[in-house]
Amino acid sequence: MLHRVLVTDNLSAAGLKVLEENPEIELVIKTDPKLSVEQLREELQDADGIVIRSGTTLTEEVLEGQSRLKAIVRAGVGVDNIDIPAATRQGIVVMNTPAGNTISTAEHTIAMMMAMARNIGPASASMREGKWEKKIFTGTQLAGKTIGVIGLGRVGLAVAQRCLGLEMRIVGYDPFISSERANEFGIELYRDLDEMLPKCELLTVHTTMTPETKNLINAERMAKMPKGARIINCARGGIIDEDALADAVESGHIAGAALDVFLQEPPKETRLVKLPSVLTTPHLGASTDEAQELVAVEASEIISGFLTRNE
Ligand code: MLT
Repeated sequence: MLHRVLVTDNLSAAGLKVLEENPEIELVIKTDPKLSVEQLREELQDADGIVIRSGTTLTEEVLEGQSRLKAIVRAGVGVDNIDIPAATRQGIVVMNTPAGNTISTAEHTIAMMMAMARNIGPASASMREGKWEKKIFTGTQLAGKTIGVIGLGRVGLAVAQRCLGLEMRIVGYDPFISSERANEFGIELYRDLDEMLPKCELLTVHTTMTPETKNLINAERMAKMPKGARIINCARGGIIDEDALADAVESGHIAGAALDVFLQEPPKETRLVKLPSVLTTPHLGASTDEAQELVAVEASEIISGFLTRNE
């Protein structure tokens, strides 16, 4: 039996090859031009599975009445572009590729932290304008500083490991990890976030975005951090309250922020993005050749395995 798999976002060649070479899979690629909601609904009527990245949004409207569709695979971690309750109601299984992005996202977090600490972005822009401004770009050394890591899953732990190599002190908050496991990574574990924040000269978040983590770091919590602290978000926009962060940076309480993710992407509200001590990138955490190949191959293997096992 031939299983039809629809791909609506760019997948690496290695990932597509897994699907192309499977005699039980019929691959349908619809990446260019981007499908409208109506076209996506139509394509899904003849699909057994779909593989997406972050460019396709599977809303209730799209998923409603899709009786042939059995599985959605997100090549990546975040499934916030899929209406999971709507998929579940239709009996459609939603899967992701939790591991492939880890190292690239952790490396991007470290890159953002170091670039922020040493004003790499503005210093480079200033040289491009023909200037040589040493004094205003004096930075801050990371060795000896305390970083708080919120969320000690795959990425959080990979970030902590790298911070340890930078001779930083690491405190961590995660309600689910054991203190033994945290200690193995050199992390002093806190069960109470508000108790940890006054220690954090830097803070990085690595949780998913849920109603519980939305605005987890709000004005009140930023006020608990030491004056001059710096904040990094390479996880999901909205975990840090963007307005509160802009206020705290403008007031000088927070010395800088490094953000790869935004509540709305691309952000329409640009106050935060335009602040000189806020370093931003357009959701590049997983954007490396290596990570994209890993997640694409993993996603293709997951969907082929699922469809051929569940005939
Ligand atoms: C992910 O959830 O896998 C990453 O944030 C990357 C992405 O969304 O493209």
